[in-house]
Amino acid sequence: MSSVITGNLRPAILPRQLGKNSAHCLFRVRSFTTSVSRRNLTSKIRLSSTIFVETKPTAPAAVEKEDGGGASGLACPICYYPLTGISDSPLYVGATVGSNLQCNTCKKTYFGNQTHLDLVVSSGSKQYDESMPLATEFFRTPVISFLYERGWRQNFESLSNYQFTLQFDMAKNYLKPVLGGTIVDASCGSGMFTRLFSKSGLFSRVIALDFSENMLRQCYDFIEEEENFPKEKVTLVRADISRLPFESSAVDAVHAGAALHCWPSPSTAVAEISRVLRPGGVFVATTYILDGPFAFLPFLRTFRENIMGIAGSHIFLSEHELEDLCRTCGLVGFTCIRNGTFVMISARKRSS
Ligand SMILES: C[S@@+](CC[C@H](N)C(=O)[O-])C[C@H]1O[C@@H](n2cnc3c(N)ncnc32)[C@H](O)[C@@H]1O
Repeated sequence: MSSVITGNLRPAILPRQLGKNSAHCLFRVRSFTTSVSRRNLTSKIRLSSTIFVETKPTAPAAVEKEDGGGASGLACPICYYPLTGISDSPLYVGATVGSNLQCNTCKKTYFGNQTHLDLVVSSGSKQYDESMPLATEFFRTPVISFLYERGWRQNFESLSNYQFTLQFDMAKNYLKPVLGGTIVDASCGSGMFTRLFSKSGLFSRVIALDFSENMLRQCYDFIEEEENFPKEKVTLVRADISRLPFESSAVDAVHAGAALHCWPSPSTAVAEISRVLRPGGVFVATTYILDGPFAFLPFLRTFRENIMGIAGSHIFLSEHELEDLCRTCGLVGFTCIRNGTFVMISARKRSS
């Protein structure tokens, strides 16, 4: 992918204002155009917000690396204290059956099954049950999980000119400052991005997380079908995006493809993402924006409220809403790439 950026560049922080050992150079870019060419596809992208171009990050890495898929960084979703393994089984995909993780504070034990570790608050409950909003429950059904990568996901791609692999390249670009670290593929679904992140070798550990047991089953099956897949770097976890089972500052990057609008409370979810990212850690997500020529009409907000009420999903009405969401959850350096209703956003955790 080649990318040409034109516009007004002015240093936001002069290099001499940065630490002596820092190789950072930040530029604030206002209202410019970038052309992206890829094979025959050339599309105009309008970057509508402040972007920070950052080189050679010096922020500390998150958790210890190369832990062989161990419990490091995993935390109890009730108290956020670290989980420790009470069996010797590694926690990578295909090896989680019979795994036991214990919270030494709550004394609660979490278990693994054939496909994933179950790290939701309600795991182990015998009598109590509760259902999530429709947008979450919908993806838990076996039929939707099965159909998802067999046609459903293509709907989202048809909202933009960006094919799946191009979205992956765009995400990788945003993730450059955190390569080599731990990435969480939040709401991974059937794992299309999880597989690409894993096979790219760009991250030391990939944690694929979803609330849907059936999506995780699909993710597991697709991984099993792959030859020479680096399973030892990948862990599948069942968790609620609003209650992430990680210690604070434990991960280098969170990716969330086509999921923000499905979450019951995007603000609680992004706040959780902000909590688990280490300083300098990167959040990249895709979603869609419903604006266009009728954006000013008040009925759109009413429509959204109705959708929220019925489906429990959230429709975004502008890029500014997404920027505001990230900012209010403690993330900085918001930038987005827009094409039609499709949008890819990125923001990062402030470096100390
Ligand atoms: C449209 S799919 C996106 C899947 C995948 N990221 C992709 O790019 O194709 C949305 C996913 O969000 C998940 N999800 C919905 N509510 C969730 C929640 N509360 N916690 C975690 N995941 C959730 C669903 O199970 C589903 O897999």
